[in-house]
Amino acid sequence: MINAIVLAAGKGTRMKTEMPKCVVPLIKKPMLEYIIDSINKSRVDKKIIVVGYKHEIYEEMFEECFAYQEEQLGTAHAVKMALPYLDEDGISVILPGDAPLIDENLINALIAEQEKTNKPLIVGTMLLDNPFGYGRIIKRGNDVLRIVEEKEATEEEKLIKEVNTGVMVVRNKDLISAIEQVKNDNKKHEYYLTDIVEILCLKKVGSLVLDDRVVGINDLYTLSKVEERLTNEIKKNHMLNGVMISNPNSVTIGIDAVIEEGVTIYQGCIITGKTVIKKGAIIGPYSELHNASIMENALIRQSVVYDSTVCENAKIGPFTHLRMNTIVGKNDRIGNFVEIKNSVLGENTNSAHLSYLGDSIIGSKVNVGCGSITVNYDGKAKHKTIVGDNVFIGCNSNLIAPITIGSNTFIAAGSTICDDIPDGAFAIARNRQVTKEEYAKKYKK
Ligand code: UD1
Ligand code: CA
Repeated sequence: MINAIVLAAGKGTRMKTEMPKCVVPLIKKPMLEYIIDSINKSRVDKKIIVVGYKHEIYEEMFEECFAYQEEQLGTAHAVKMALPYLDEDGISVILPGDAPLIDENLINALIAEQEKTNKPLIVGTMLLDNPFGYGRIIKRGNDVLRIVEEKEATEEEKLIKEVNTGVMVVRNKDLISAIEQVKNDNKKHEYYLTDIVEILCLKKVGSLVLDDRVVGINDLYTLSKVEERLTNEIKKNHMLNGVMISNPNSVTIGIDAVIEEGVTIYQGCIITGKTVIKKGAIIGPYSELHNASIMENALIRQSVVYDSTVCENAKIGPFTHLRMNTIVGKNDRIGNFVEIKNSVLGENTNSAHLSYLGDSIIGSKVNVGCGSITVNYDGKAKHKTIVGDNVFIGCNSNLIAPITIGSNTFIAAGSTICDDIPDGAFAIARNRQVTKEEYAKKYKK
């Protein structure tokens, strides 16, 4: 059995954020989620996440096996909290929760190294020109003798450029006995996980140099650097796969976005979450897509799309806001200052200007006139609006929900509709105009 222990109990004092460090988002995805995804794709059979500081936030976001570290007494103490969950005959991959670029290949490489050498412990290391802040690797030949933390290192040790990534693979039996022996007689009075190296060194501790992707994020500056690096890699991959990105420096794309070849992305776009964009779609300039599904040849200009789908050939924007499970149908045209929430629209439907459609089902070939809205909220509860096919909703109409508007109906402009309208009917609900001849001159005096 291969276990994984992820350390995420710390506060992250150096981040200076309200949120605990490992849930701070990196391109709109919590750091810890990257690690969990990588573990899920690796050979690991079972993972334990050690949480402590503001653990309720983690419990809300993730459904994982949690171990609790009430007081943050150091990384060895955090690992100790996970020991009861381990398979005694197995091995464990220990990972920091603040190094989101660790991927499954890297995890598997460390596991393979342990299996090949059968050493009790393999430390993942990297070579850095500026090793400041990291634990330094002290070696004799190929054997790691110990790891010395920045705070404890002598001037000479500080020159060592091979550092501890925080990722290691260890035999559980050796881990359990070594953790018991770690002491906190150091400058920070913490139980350092790195001390297990010295404890196990007589049994020969190995190491594997990983690339410098395993940066630990301790502050918001480093977070921005990692974000830049990650999104640059992602954009490069998309461009090599046939996605046209103009002015790529102004575009951010997250790790889980799936973008087909033949998509065009103009400048200033932020594409995150589980967004899918199909062939021929044109995104931007200046649009934000999060968990959006954009179908073939759809056009999204200067708009915001969250948790919603835009079907084939639909045209969105400029300045449209789609959110919360909205589906815009094929060939629909949604224009400026239109907000649509939790609604499904049929095909060839238009809402071209200044509308709000919420909690509604709108048919095909519907024209939602300028300024028309669903009145879905009565101050207490949200209600549904249902509109059939081939409906003309005149400008500035209010549809007071719950309400059903039949197919082939016509609503005159300026109507406030409170009663259902049967198929084929014409509805008008406004006061008659009063025109007083010659009255204007008098009035103005
Ligand atoms: C740690 C390593 C260092 C390594 C670096 C790599 C130790 C003592 N030092 O330093 O050798 O070069 O990572 O990035 O291990 N945590 C807990 N409980 C605690 C303390 C920390 O769960 O009591 C968690 C933190 O939330 C974090 C991880 O452990 O996710 C690492 O802790 P952090 O304080 O960031 O350690 P570094 O100083 O970066
Ligand atoms: Ca760290």
